[in-house]
Formats: sequence, C-alpha cells, structure tokens
Amino acid sequence: MGRNLLSGALRFTGVFFSRPLSTRIPLIPSRSLFRTATMASADSLPASVQGLTLQSTTTTSKFPGCFPTLNPMDIYRQHIAEELGKATDVEPDLIYSRLAWTNTLDKGDLSLPAAALRIKKKPDELAAELASKFPESDLVHPPTAFGPHVQFFCKPLPLANTVLGRVLTEKAAYGTNGNMGLKDPSDPSKGQKKIIIEFSSPNIAKPFHAGHLRSTIIGGFLANLYTVMGWDVIKMNYLGDWGKQYGLLANGFKYFGNEEALQKDPINHLFDVYVKVNRLVGEQEGPIKELKEQIKGKKEKGEDVAALEAELAKLVDVSEDEKARRYFKSMEDGNPDALALWSRFRDLSIAKYKQTYARLNIDFDVYSGESQVKSESMSNAYKAMETAGVTEESDGAIIADFTKHGAKKLGKAIIVRKDGTPLYLTRDIGAILERDEQYHFDRMIYVVAAQQDLHLAQLFKVTELMGRKDLANRCQHINFGMVHGMSTRKGTVKFLDDILRDVGDKMHEVMKKNEVKYSQVANPEETADTLGITSVMVQDMTGKRVNGYDFNLDAMTSFEGDTGPYLQYAHARLCSMTRKSGLNVDELSTADFSLLTERHAVDLIRLLASWPDVLINTAKTLEPVTVLSYLFRMTHMLSSSYDVLKVIGSEPELKKSRMALYAAARQVLHNGMRVLGLNPVERM
Ligand code: ARG
Repeated sequence: MGRNLLSGALRFTGVFFSRPLSTRIPLIPSRSLFRTATMASADSLPASVQGLTLQSTTTTSKFPGCFPTLNPMDIYRQHIAEELGKATDVEPDLIYSRLAWTNTLDKGDLSLPAAALRIKKKPDELAAELASKFPESDLVHPPTAFGPHVQFFCKPLPLANTVLGRVLTEKAAYGTNGNMGLKDPSDPSKGQKKIIIEFSSPNIAKPFHAGHLRSTIIGGFLANLYTVMGWDVIKMNYLGDWGKQYGLLANGFKYFGNEEALQKDPINHLFDVYVKVNRLVGEQEGPIKELKEQIKGKKEKGEDVAALEAELAKLVDVSEDEKARRYFKSMEDGNPDALALWSRFRDLSIAKYKQTYARLNIDFDVYSGESQVKSESMSNAYKAMETAGVTEESDGAIIADFTKHGAKKLGKAIIVRKDGTPLYLTRDIGAILERDEQYHFDRMIYVVAAQQDLHLAQLFKVTELMGRKDLANRCQHINFGMVHGMSTRKGTVKFLDDILRDVGDKMHEVMKKNEVKYSQVANPEETADTLGITSVMVQDMTGKRVNGYDFNLDAMTSFEGDTGPYLQYAHARLCSMTRKSGLNVDELSTADFSLLTERHAVDLIRLLASWPDVLINTAKTLEPVTVLSYLFRMTHMLSSSYDVLKVIGSEPELKKSRMALYAAARQVLHNGMRVLGLNPVERM
C-alpha cells in the first residue's frame, strides 16, 4: 500500500469556521456557524475570543458512527470488522461495535474482548481462534490473543502516512467531527443538534467565587467540546441579577455610590457599596433582635408589650432591610426609575465580565439571568403544576412535596412564598420552559456546583411531574466539587480578576529568572497572563469534576509535575524546535515517514492516531481530565523522545521526517489545549 493510504477517500468537505475567516466552505449552513465566523465586535475586548475549527465529511461508512476520512482509527475498525467477519461467521457490525480502546499501547491499538461477541465458547479459546483466523493484512500485524482479548497492532508505515499526513494538512481541524452533531446523520440538510450550555452564572454585586470559576472553566470546555463534535452550541450566562439585594444595592448606591468609580470598575465598586450597606443592615439588626427578644420575654410573663411593639415597628420601618424590600417591590412592579438604575448596574457589570471572560477565551451568546424570567412563564408553570397535582398549600405558601411523588430524597420545596413572591427555584422552572420554547434545544446542560445538586434535582423532577418528562430528559446537571482556600497572596479573594492578576504576576517573576529567554518574548506581560490563566485552569481540570481540591498557587505555577506551565512549556519547546530547524512546516507532509522506525516515533504516532477517539470518549465522560491526561501522556512521551529522535544535526531527510513528527505532535497538543480553553504560547 502506497503512502497515501486514503488519497482516494480523503475527500473531506469541511464545515470550517474559524476566526479569522477560513477559506473553506461550510457544508451545513447554520446560525451558529455564521455567528462563530463573525469577528468579535470591537466591544473593547482586551483580546478577541478565538473560534475553533471544525471539519465534516460527506463520505460515510456502512458502520454507524464510522468516519474513515475524519478518524484514522475508523479505517482500522472498519478493516478489522470486515476482514474478521469474512474469515469467521461473526457479524461485522457486531465486531465493529465491540472493538475497544486500549489503556496502554502495549495492549494494542484496538482490542476485541471475545466475551462481548456473545458466542457460546470459552472467551480465551474464542480469542485464540479469532486471532488465528484473521487474514494477512496491509494495515495490521497478525493479531495476538491475550487471555480473552484479541489485540490488534497497526503496522507503522501506513499508520504514519495517514496520521501524520492528515494532522499536517487538516491542522486545527484534526480530530474534530462535524458529523457527530448532525440531527440526522444520513441527511445533513436537517441541520445540527442544538445544545444550551448554561455556565458561570455569577451574582452581580457579589464576589465571583470559586464555584463560579469552576463553572466557567468546565462550561467553557464543554462548549468547545460540543462545538468540535459539530453541535450548535448556545453559551448562556444565567446571572444572579434579581432579588432583594438589588434593592439594598440601589439604596446603598445613594449613600456610598460614586459615578466615576462605577464607570471605571463597576464590579468592584458595586461590591464595595454592597459591603458598606450590608454593614448598616448588620448594625441595625442588633437592636431589632434585642427588642424582639424583650417582647418575647415579656409576653411569656404576660406583660403588656404594645409600646415595645410600636417601637419595633418603627425601627423595622426605617431599617435598610425593609427599605430594600420596598425598593425591590417597586422593581417587581415595574417602576421605571428603579429599573433604570438596576439596569445600568447590570449592563456595566456585564461589560466588565465580558473583558474577564475574554481573557479566558470565552464569550457568551446570551446573558440571561433571574431578572429575565417572565412572570407569565412562572404563572404558566404554577398552573401546570397545580393541574398536575404537584403543588399544594401549606401555611399560606405553595409548596411541592416530593415525598408524595415518589422522590423521598428531594424533600419539600417552596414554590411561591406566603407573600406571593417567587423563589430561585420558581424562576428556574419558568426559565426551563421559556428556553425550551425559544430555542427548541436537543440538550441543555447546567454547569453548577454540587452544592446545588438538590436544587437541580428538584427542578428536573418538577419539570417531569408537570407532564414535561420529554423536557426533563433533555436536561443534565454537570456538577463539580468545592475549591478550598482560593485566595491571593495578599489575602482573601473577591473577584476573578484578582486571582488572575496574582497568578499572572507570579508567572512573570518565574519568566524573568531566565534573562535570555525573557528578552526574546515579544509580549512578556501578555504571556505571563496566559501562563497564569493556564495554571489556574489546568489545576482545576486535573482531577475528576466531582473532586474538590485545594487552591495552591505554588503548586499550580510550578514546572514540576503535570501543571499548566509544564504543558505550555512542552508546546513552546516544539515551537522553538520548529523555528530552529529552519524547515517550512507547510512542506513537512511530504517527508519520508518510512524513516520513523524507532519505538519512540512509532508510539508517538500511535498516540496521535487516537486523538479523534479521545474526543469521542470525552464526549461520553464530559470530563476535562480525559483530554488533559491524554495531553500529559503525550508530553511525557515527547520529553523522553528528544534525546533519541534528534532533529538538529540529523541527515536532511531524517531531519525532515522527525520534524514532521514533532510538528504533528505540536498540532495535536495545540488542538487539545484549545478544546480545554487554553491558549498555547509559542515562546515563554
Ligand atoms: N447564580 C447562581 C449562584 O451563584 C448559580 C446559577 C445556577 N444556574 C441555575 N439555573 N440555577 O449560586
């Protein structure tokens, strides 16, 4: 078989979208493709948010979910299924669906667990029989039976030709698969599946805490993942922007606000105001509590409390808490002045958030929020709940008692307060119905801390009990554990910007230690910022989502171990090698890959071949660590290769082929980092 194994079939017609505009033609025109393709408006974003590249194909296979022109391993799965099917009486479809990934390369590139074929034979014997019947092949070595598994190893040269050839030509699109997100895989004209990913969702005037940070990181990653799997992704931020605290904030602004400070740094200023006015509330709370206790004591003794009660009423009436309640009531009633002020706070905060999100390479399609839920949607929801018998009256409030509906663990939840006002849960119920109507999504993911497991479980259960099981089934809560001790070097953290600045400063110090390298970095501050952000994000994505972790500034910024800086270093080193080689990257795909015979080279190619499968697996686990561990596996392999596979000083042909291998590794590293939401640096 020649070196262009698939030259006939490699006819990928791309849905390519990227910023800056790519020249490829979209296959599936859709709203989101066009949206992603437009430049970020000059909203004074400090850095424009970069889009991802996506490819799809019109070449399909008889096996479902098999795209040999996009995923090299699909060539092998298809080949093995067909050949083994011909040689035995096992159905190729069954073989295809049972071919499994291996955890380590010594177990083969693909493995077939004989037991999964549901044939009445001892698995070990069956495995041996299948292995022996597998015919001579151009693509794979004669398989070996290892216990109940048949292990298949790809022959190096055709694999190298396919994988390296593709990575170097498809570049950022390698591994992506627009066909995965099609509504109907057999008819692309029906369009992409749509997913809403709700994430970040901070509360205006309150600190952006670690929970919001994790939601932002994980949500951004999920948005990228679904994008490269061809879904139409709607990124939604559901702000905490409604409630009595906005009454408090508005009144507080009258006492402590400063127009100039608000314009300059709305988030910090509003937070300051909020802290100050809350201090007032705290000061007033004491005397009110004291009076209440006095009244209680006197009542117990049967004494007259009328005078004290009048005094209490007076105190309450002028208290900030009560004023806030009244102000918020006027907002709820639609008072234009009250709303205008609130809306300014909201707009200014969003503008500032946008800048911070841009540093994380994230932009939202929708800034929704608790304030945006229409009372009409909530009252429709009440009616539906009532009709379905979900709710009941209790002490003047309306509640849902889940214990009566087969969900003991969910307890009871108040849906409407005694005074008729809705709650956090009520707004979410209104919102889920609105979103369904407005977006007709195929899936919706809520990226929210595990502390709110109960809240989301109640939301989905109510939705189901309302007769909307169809809707509840399309929704999913992606949760995560707590971060402990998130603080800056100066003390406790208030906002994301503080953390990012601090980590950036720390990385800047580290960079300065190497004077020579430092002098070559064109934009050291920006690079330090990127490295800092990478540190925070990699630390966050290192474990499974449900596990919490300790926020450790020293550990995350270290070059020792599997850290963000180490990952960036691995990328920068490959870039530096490319620069020093003096070779033109665009010509590397014509290198002679038959020269790549060393174990290190072959294994690296095998690892690069599995990147599309890693993405597919990640779409199942929805864990950033699935991608991250793959990338670290690669960086480890790379660092043990540098001494064995030297580029500088090798013969021209060998040099070119090795450089091609490293360039391909750099590309896949880059693609993986981009899915995680990281910005790979070229120098550091
Ligand atoms: N703003 C909320 C908080 O900070 C998170 C919102 C989560 N999303 C939702 N649909 N309830 O706790």
